[in-house]
Amino acid sequence: MAKDVIIACDFSSKEQTLAFLDRFTGRKPFVKIGMELYYAEGPEIVREIKKRGHRIFLDLKLHDIPNTVRKTMQVLSRLDVDMTNVHAAGTVDMMRAAVEGLTREDGTRPLLIAVTQLTSTSEERMQRELLIGASIEATIAKYAENAKEAGLDGVVCSPLEAQLVKTACGAEFMTVTPGIRFADASKDDQVRITTPARAREIGSDYIVVGRPVTAADNPVAAYERCCKEFLNE
Ligand code: C5P
Repeated sequence: MAKDVIIACDFSSKEQTLAFLDRFTGRKPFVKIGMELYYAEGPEIVREIKKRGHRIFLDLKLHDIPNTVRKTMQVLSRLDVDMTNVHAAGTVDMMRAAVEGLTREDGTRPLLIAVTQLTSTSEERMQRELLIGASIEATIAKYAENAKEAGLDGVVCSPLEAQLVKTACGAEFMTVTPGIRFADASKDDQVRITTPARAREIGSDYIVVGRPVTAADNPVAAYERCCKEFLNE
């Protein structure tokens, strides 16, 4: 399976984003467009970044009733992104509706993955605030099984849970893992984190890296360090 480093372009304007991407000469990183940038700039920013030759993970984490998710995915399918996602907490029915909506008339569709539990959520908070009594591992394994049952390609989870997901759903089921930090850096608001090198050892397929690259003094060097550690380049 393809392995790659995805940069989370969590910026609030097109200008900032394109200026950031302009720093990468010669190499076209896989880019994640999340809610902040998409809500600021709309579908045009997706078209612009695609036109520049980047692959795109559109991270809008849909979570609504199945009919709304189906129809929204139909609209998103026209944007020609490479990967997009929903929250597994929306249930198997909602995830099935997402697959249906995203599938184009010719049968093709972008990769579709489900968020299990956000990497900023601790087991203690999940149990105390969300009243989910199971362990975080059991919850993630079950959400991943639900995503597989609904026909999705994989899940977003912490790299610490990548092996658990592979055991529950098989080696071909994709793990896309945010919550990446260099060994010598701050955790920010993330909780269930690890380094790019450890994520490779545990079996992540794609790592998603935001602030360690976007807030670095030298983002290109930070991105290359991620690739070196994760892809062993
Ligand atoms: O800056 P940082 O590396 O923490 O960014 C991680 C990115 O991955 C953010 O864009 C965040 O929205 C996203 N994400 C996450 N945990 C998930 C799903 C997505 O951190 N479970």
